[in-house]
Amino acid sequence: FKSKIVVVGSCSIDFTTYSARLPTPGETLIGKKFTTSFGGKGANQSVAAAKTGGNVYIICRVGDDQWAEKYKEHLKHVGVDVTNAYVTKNTTTGIAQITVADNGENQIVIVPGANEHLSKSDVDYAKELIKKADVLIGQLETPYETTLEAFKLNDGIKLLNAAPARAHIETILPYCTILCVNEPEASQIVNFDVNVSNIKSALEILLQSGCKMAIITLGAKGAAYSSKNTGECIHVSSNKVAAVDTTGAGDAFVGALASLLVNFKNQPFHQLIGAACEYATLTVTLEGTQTSYPEKYIPFTKQYDYVTL
Ligand code: RIB
Ligand code: NA
Repeated sequence: FKSKIVVVGSCSIDFTTYSARLPTPGETLIGKKFTTSFGGKGANQSVAAAKTGGNVYIICRVGDDQWAEKYKEHLKHVGVDVTNAYVTKNTTTGIAQITVADNGENQIVIVPGANEHLSKSDVDYAKELIKKADVLIGQLETPYETTLEAFKLNDGIKLLNAAPARAHIETILPYCTILCVNEPEASQIVNFDVNVSNIKSALEILLQSGCKMAIITLGAKGAAYSSKNTGECIHVSSNKVAAVDTTGAGDAFVGALASLLVNFKNQPFHQLIGAACEYATLTVTLEGTQTSYPEKYIPFTKQYDYVTL
């Protein structure tokens, strides 16, 4: 049997405009290009996990609009099981309005739509699947109580990507095997501005909050992590590339990490992190989110650099 990766999370349509820079409040800019694509953190992570060789199932909600069937078909095509992708009547599928600037920076406004309706009873309905998941992935784009309920049911590896940042997630942290956040999300939890220079103290505080392992992703600087088991803090660096579009790079990291965890159990954790960083880095060199996730990725063609902090 192939290990199961189960994602409980969001599924949205991304409306992306590309422009020279991000607009300031009240300003109208003439953009260069517009695309409509499949996004949402949960679905992005499920696609990254599937494209890197995972056996992936998603539990999500779409609306009853023109996007619902298209999205399900798309996920099926990528190899994600959509048996538990439910439709909410009289609701739109979640959308994200994204602006990407020439320097790769982005700005996102989300309207959750059907994502807001992913409920505890949906989790209950998929109970057997959730229980049996080798890796269960959650984010914070769908109701918190739903993710919490799912995490309580599972005995495998529970990977929480606490994104987007939100207050009061204390109750889920003790259920997290791995908490994965970027710098602003980490800052929200530890109550100071997290960056490479203070990453060690940030990781220590994250571990005290109850998770067994904490990862802080650092964009072009790679990622740092620490675990309760060893107490060690390790910084894994990333290749330097010219960023074209960083949207969904964090999701690529999370999805890839999940499939690497189940498919390369003999690799040390810092090498798994290195490979997940490598995968995420590949995606920022291409436009789009899921469309920029490589399908033929071969990890561990080299040793990834790391230092103990
Ligand atoms: O993490 C990137 C995702 O965040 C985008 O696909 C968009 O849908 C937003 O939810
Ligand atoms: Na990209």
